[in-house]
Amino acid sequence: MRPDMRVTLIIGGGIAAYKCLDLIRQLRALGVRVTPVLTRAATQFVTPMSVAALAGTQVHQDLFDLKDEAEMGHIQLSRASDLIVVAPATADLMAKMAGGHADDLASTLLLATDKPVLIAPAMNIRMWAHPATRRNLAMLQADGVQVIGPNSGDMACGEYGPGRMSEPAEIVAAIAARGTSGPLSGKRVLVTSGPTHEPIDPVRYIANRSSGAQGTAIASALRDLGAEVIFVTGPATIPAPQGVTLHRIETAREMLATCLAALPVDAAVMAAAVADWHIASDFTQKIKKGPQGIPELKLSENPDILATLCAHDQRPRLVVGFAAETEHVIAHATAKRARKGCDWIVANDVSPATGIMGGHENAVHLITDQGSEDWPRLPKTQVATRLAARIAQALA
Ligand code: C5P
Repeated sequence: MRPDMRVTLIIGGGIAAYKCLDLIRQLRALGVRVTPVLTRAATQFVTPMSVAALAGTQVHQDLFDLKDEAEMGHIQLSRASDLIVVAPATADLMAKMAGGHADDLASTLLLATDKPVLIAPAMNIRMWAHPATRRNLAMLQADGVQVIGPNSGDMACGEYGPGRMSEPAEIVAAIAARGTSGPLSGKRVLVTSGPTHEPIDPVRYIANRSSGAQGTAIASALRDLGAEVIFVTGPATIPAPQGVTLHRIETAREMLATCLAALPVDAAVMAAAVADWHIASDFTQKIKKGPQGIPELKLSENPDILATLCAHDQRPRLVVGFAAETEHVIAHATAKRARKGCDWIVANDVSPATGIMGGHENAVHLITDQGSEDWPRLPKTQVATRLAARIAQALA
């Protein structure tokens, strides 16, 4: 664990909150900076004063505390963290997270953050077993939230079974192990995703139909194998994954600059549907209809990010490009692999009849120096899992 790691610890309102005092003590002993956030219910179980004393810093409680919002609002709390830990994660907090509620500081922070989130659930065994909690848990895991516990044992409510919050030492170990397990641990992977928007004037732009679904699934799958993922996305229609370093860009030129700034990386997966051209003229005002007639838009070529990375003196060891084709898929993709200088091309047929662009499934061919492999039509998440496993093999 990095000694200067910054953890924001959200303490939920359950009897297990008392264990957080020890958790803070153990984390601080390892040099971790802990910023505590208490829910209203948590203050029934631990006092802000004892939490602040152990954390050696102020406790944050109120979304509408003007002093806090000026100095350390929910966005700033997220920015100033490497990891958000929720302990105990009560059934109510999990439901709020899964539903995207934002009615207090803790839930607003959890909705606003792009940092990895680790939760340590704790609740009565019947609440843990309830279908609503099972659903919420599955949704949170699909969102990339890491879950530790709960353990089985005697419960404060007099019952026995799963529901006890993990012990502080177990939570500390889970925090320390983050990114150090899995075949891609210690590896940095750059993933581009989504469309780009190329402005015509301040209110109009040129775009394409990419949803960002395949790139997002690849980023999640690489993260799940332990990679540090740098995710550079255009304005996609689906949400970015959690637990990755997120960079939102609009234009191809911004995407190139962000990718170059991310180097060095071990591998790059360029799944973005980058616009080939941008508008050459710089319209600083909205183009108006008028007697001057229909405007002529002059286009200028965008940089090829994939080719630039392949020719770079910090070229990643493995560069994977994509080829969206509407005919002669394998022949065009094989030529593209050679032209761009990348190691692999993931090729697919995006003719409207396939329903692939913007859909949930993909049928791809993996083009390597060994030739072409045809993968069956699969959900985009499974294409991503397969590709991530192949990347892990190649980087091993
Ligand atoms: O040339 P084409 O757009 O078909 O190439 C597709 C591949 O190249 C994708 O991996 C895409 O992300 C990447 N690309 C790029 N920069 C561009 C155009 C495409 O990185 N300007």
